[in-house]
Amino acid sequence: MTRLRKQSSSSGHPDALGPVTRGPKIIAPIPPRPTTPTAPETDSSRATSATFSFSLRPQEVARHLDRFVIGQAEAKKVLSVALCDHFQHVRLTREGKPARFYQKQNVLLLGPTGVGKTHLVRSAADLIGVPFVKADATRFSETGYVGADVDDLVRDLIRRAGGDIRQAEHGIIYLDEADKLATREAGAGRDVSGRGVQTNLLKLMEDADVPIVSPNDVTGQLQGAMATMRGGAPASDTINTRHILFIVSGAFAGMEQVVRRRLTAAGDTSARVASLTGAQLLSAAGTADFVAFGFEPEFIGRLPVRVACHGLNTEDLYNVLLKSESSLIRQYERAFSAYGIRVKFKASGLRRLAQIATSENIGARGLMTACERVFRDFKFQLPSAAVKEFTVTRQLVDDPAGELRALLKR
Ligand SMILES: Nc1ncnc2c1ncn2[C@@H]1O[C@H](COP(=O)(O)OP(=O)(O)OP(=O)(O)O)[C@@H](O)[C@H]1O
Ligand SMILES: [Mg+2]
Repeated sequence: MTRLRKQSSSSGHPDALGPVTRGPKIIAPIPPRPTTPTAPETDSSRATSATFSFSLRPQEVARHLDRFVIGQAEAKKVLSVALCDHFQHVRLTREGKPARFYQKQNVLLLGPTGVGKTHLVRSAADLIGVPFVKADATRFSETGYVGADVDDLVRDLIRRAGGDIRQAEHGIIYLDEADKLATREAGAGRDVSGRGVQTNLLKLMEDADVPIVSPNDVTGQLQGAMATMRGGAPASDTINTRHILFIVSGAFAGMEQVVRRRLTAAGDTSARVASLTGAQLLSAAGTADFVAFGFEPEFIGRLPVRVACHGLNTEDLYNVLLKSESSLIRQYERAFSAYGIRVKFKASGLRRLAQIATSENIGARGLMTACERVFRDFKFQLPSAAVKEFTVTRQLVDDPAGELRALLKR
């Protein structure tokens, strides 16, 4: 059974890292929690039809996401509700109580780069008790001759379900980088196959029967034919996608301008439009804006639940380092401890790293860039030196070369 483990902080909130936030001089490493870490998406489809059971409620799912993802409350809410609804729908269907007119709540997540869109879905993956596949939209081509065929996504679900078609029919497909499917006006760059892929996805997202064996898979076709001759072929040679949930995400760079243009054309005062933040503009994106961006109305119409992720400010990035269980500082602690070196982080050092990352303007990805620059020489030199411990302060972040020299001299 999929269950959330109990939070260890006294407040019960996963972000309430007692000793860390109450201000010791040194930021103690966040103790790893004794449960399964965020499973990579490929590992998250362990359920079998015999074991399916799901008892989580949306707020519990959101609390689980809080452990890994800082901010993005609205996206967490939307994702938690969509996942729980999907599970309840699967449960009722399997209990012999199918809904007569069930409409899928496929989700579209959009927002600037590096703010946690992929991270959110990846973090939800270890709670997902149905088969789950993730793919980048850039992988596909219209015909499937050059890139993959979108139908392969559904066949991947069957593989994840260990061949159990019934399981796979209730799975979840996560399509990342979906904005790359947009077809822009001629000359704007994007090839025409984006539209073809959108059209192929339309059928999948609603209700399609997909052949279990790809028409391009000659070996598979032969094996199928032989199984049929032996009388061992599966009951059906297709899988239906009516109950598969789709989660789609992408940065949709430039969408703000599309929305701004529409608002201005609709007579909104330019002062008001100019005062809207990027997040507000993205939240205001409607079907017409997605169409102007280069999507087919039928494609975007099949993604009724839309939510914008906000950009991350310095405080958010500081919290990403300090509180997230997937914080980069864990990675650095691990890398140095492999050589017997203990690294400690002071709040001032983390804050400075967050400031540098903010100026990169690539969300939390900027933290990696900032850390890499600061720690490059430490990683190169310390493993061969006698240093067994060092502390990351604001001074060290501002002058890594000088601090390293001093450390080596000591
Ligand atoms: N809100 C957040 N909280 C904690 N960590 C985050 C957050 N946002 C991003 N990160 C970290 O930054 C990395 C990159 O984030 P992610 O892959 O989710 O970006 P994205 O929003 O999908 O961007 P893109 O549109 O470029 O794909 C994550 O692996 C994670 O470590
Ligand atoms: Mg992403």
